[in-house]
Amino acid sequence: MNLPRWDRLLLNATLATFADAPSCSVIEHGAIAMHHGRIAWIGRMGDLPAAPATLATSVLSIDGALVTPGLIDCHTHLVFGGDRVHEFDLRANGASYEELARAGGGIVATVKATREAGEDALYAQSLARARTLLADGVTTLEIKSGYGLELETERRMLQVARRIGRKLGITVRTSFLGLHALPPEYRERRADYVSLVCDEMLPALAAEGLLDAVDAFCEDIGFSREETRRLFEQAQRLGLPVKLHAGQLSDLDGAALVAEYRGLSADHLEHLGESGIQAMAAAGTVAVLLPGAFYALRETRLPPIELLRKHRVPMAVATDCNPGSSPMLSLRLAAGMACTLFRLTPAEALHGITTHAARALGLTDRGTLAVGQIADLVVWNARQPAELCYWIGGGLVREVYVCGESVSRRSVSRCWRNAS
Ligand code: NIG
Ligand code: FE
Repeated sequence: MNLPRWDRLLLNATLATFADAPSCSVIEHGAIAMHHGRIAWIGRMGDLPAAPATLATSVLSIDGALVTPGLIDCHTHLVFGGDRVHEFDLRANGASYEELARAGGGIVATVKATREAGEDALYAQSLARARTLLADGVTTLEIKSGYGLELETERRMLQVARRIGRKLGITVRTSFLGLHALPPEYRERRADYVSLVCDEMLPALAAEGLLDAVDAFCEDIGFSREETRRLFEQAQRLGLPVKLHAGQLSDLDGAALVAEYRGLSADHLEHLGESGIQAMAAAGTVAVLLPGAFYALRETRLPPIELLRKHRVPMAVATDCNPGSSPMLSLRLAAGMACTLFRLTPAEALHGITTHAARALGLTDRGTLAVGQIADLVVWNARQPAELCYWIGGGLVREVYVCGESVSRRSVSRCWRNAS
């Protein structure tokens, strides 16, 4: 008889497969096999087709440890120059995020630092942050541009994002966020900047193959519905999917707008009405919840979780890692905050950083443990899925596998502050 010969087999695993929402779909006393970068077999140990030692080149018992799919952070601004610790201090002393933005700080302050950073410095500090997320179990990462606001620096950000993916061997998906803030040199020429983004920057970066999606900041302090629509029209012409920062600080009904374009996701959503939710449900647009920004900006208005549930809109959870509103370097913490601050159940929050996050990026080959899926998975120092939301801080990762290969603990556990 020809028995399968897999690359790697993990035994005695507690497998949270996420195959069937809303539960985590746990298989106790499980086994999972990886071969050529994919999941080749998954099930109960007792159902393995032969003695384990005959089945794989490497066989490892993990003593009941929890295994999940590699986590997916579907909304980050991880590539940026400098930091905004000074604004953190000012906000602690009473200044608001909007006041700082209107006074020339906020996003525009990071634009200055990002433009001034050379490619190598930008890469080194951003890579360090990506390593930290990876050390906490993230194997797929979305990174937005939007701190360049001119072609050259937007390109550099996207190239750095792609380079991080190659270096760490993880998947990085890039989104173009040219409509993030109005650059100071266009203060009196708003329409010209929107034209530059839509008619020149977006087509150029798309032609260079640097984009997976297009995003915008649709807010009172950002860009209007009309400006966003113009961007989406161009994205559609170029065949790129769209997503949107919508309803973070004001309600411009951005969720309905992005749903009109069958967008991948609407993100933030503290200001969101039922009609927007219905539009999202009809379009299959994912709601991306960003509790790190809610927490850091001391927001009090909650996203309408009960209505999102009622209309069965899939909810993803992400870090929104950025220097201003969410300097957050743990996706597991974002999931915990989604439970505590937004009252998601742990199972909902965990679907939010696996299956629903994959969907928010348009990816179908990950987010669950199932045969044929990419073998990105995490072995945790935990025994039940809810623990990943329950523990606040601490290193729970025992091992990360990316495409079936174990990521050396040494290479991922370097402190993010020391990388440059
Ligand atoms: O998602 N609001 C737009 N973008 C980020 C904030 C960026 C920043 O403050 O630098 C967000 O919260
Ligand atoms: Fe964001």
